[in-house]
Amino acid sequence: TRTAAVIPAAGRGVRLGPGAPKALRALNGTPMLIHAVRAMAASRAVSLVIVVAPPDGTPEVKTLLDAHALPERTDFLVVPGGESRQESVKQGLDALPPGYDIVLVHDAARPLVPVDTVDAVIEAVRDGAPAVVPALPLADTVKEVEPADAPGAPEPVVATPERARLRAVQTPQGFHRETLVRAHETVTGEVTDDASMVERLGLGVVVVPGHEEAFKVTRPLDLVLAEAVLARRRL
Ligand code: CTP
Ligand code: MG
Repeated sequence: TRTAAVIPAAGRGVRLGPGAPKALRALNGTPMLIHAVRAMAASRAVSLVIVVAPPDGTPEVKTLLDAHALPERTDFLVVPGGESRQESVKQGLDALPPGYDIVLVHDAARPLVPVDTVDAVIEAVRDGAPAVVPALPLADTVKEVEPADAPGAPEPVVATPERARLRAVQTPQGFHRETLVRAHETVTGEVTDDASMVERLGLGVVVVPGHEEAFKVTRPLDLVLAEAVLARRRL
């Protein structure tokens, strides 16, 4: 069995503020995308990485990947992304050559995921789960609200789900190739992760333990945390 990783990296990073597309922003001198690609290539099981680049940034991303050495066992492809994360992942899947029966989907915005987490996801897929997501228990209590129309207006609380049953999900999410392809071909409507598309097919999705360092770089404070984690690792 061969495993490929699709890395959606085509987002602009609006919540991070003005600047280069998020995946190309530097963390301790190295673009976030390169950290994310290395995190996937660190797994001995991953032999192909497909980077989904900002539509106008494909040549730049190719140049970047050529300039940063990957393990010899790891090939890479670069394809242009789409308007939404979902479209970008689809673009990556469309470029997947035959022979890869396990697919990971990993956000470029989670550059620091440890290899043990990647391997745990792959192992659970190999053990037969069609879809596997790494996730952590929540620190905060979560409220469901009736969203207000005006920003900042008070929002009525609808419910408080039992925190102990909730998980915050991360990436890489791992899939049997056929399952993920079918999900992307048949599920329509807004989703925020790939596993939820598989849930809509009625197939079993399982959670394995995630890792604190697999957090998503979303807002400016996350850049501070990411650089501190890298400094602790001396990278
Ligand atoms: N992504 C993508 N194509 C899009 C939108 C997002 O490939 N059209 C990718 C991002 O590059 C990122 C991942 O999906 O690696 C998770 O998305 P998110 O953290 O929301 O990143 P952005 O969409 O870039 O950020 P924002 O929502 O703040 O603009
Ligand atoms: Mg986004």
